[in-house]
Amino acid sequence: MLKRATAPGWFEAASASLPRLLSDHLHCERKAAENALSLVRRYPGDPECVTTLGRLAHEETSHVVQVSELLARLGHRPQADRPNVYARALLAEVRPREPDRQLDLLLVAGLIEARSHERLSLLAEGFAARDQGELARFYRALAAAEDRHAEIYGTLAARVVPAAAVAARLEVLATREADIVAALPVEPRIH
Ligand SMILES: [Fe+2]
Ligand SMILES: [Fe+2]
Repeated sequence: MLKRATAPGWFEAASASLPRLLSDHLHCERKAAENALSLVRRYPGDPECVTTLGRLAHEETSHVVQVSELLARLGHRPQADRPNVYARALLAEVRPREPDRQLDLLLVAGLIEARSHERLSLLAEGFAARDQGELARFYRALAAAEDRHAEIYGTLAARVVPAAAVAARLEVLATREADIVAALPVEPRIH
């Protein structure tokens, strides 16, 4: 799904402050749960879609709990949420008319999940290389979940419009996502 890999050196910068990284991660998981439920609010008509998104929100909520528990175990206090320039820039691409809007919201959610999967995997590898086993295991497990979520959003998008239309729009949004990621400052946050 992704058209550009995260820059080398990202792990060093991202892991420079664990309290900041984990606080941002906490809010990312919360927003992932909220976003899944906001799609249920906007599009309640398809029972299969509602069930899938409800389960996804449930899983993201369990990630909120896991990150919160890890923060507490490490003795860090969660920090306030900061604006997510990355997600906002992607959401600015969502077209206003239906079914374009529904398709775009699902594809943007899928791209964010795919980027989260990539970055959580980088954290897992980086912490493993530093012999920080607890953090490596933690991020490996969460990375696997985000990979599944990216796939789920792709499957839901294919219920809105034909596969060729999904692929064409994904090409545009994934290109935009790559440009947005390239312009982001590198700091201790997931994206
Ligand atoms: Fe998650
Ligand atoms: Fe997710």
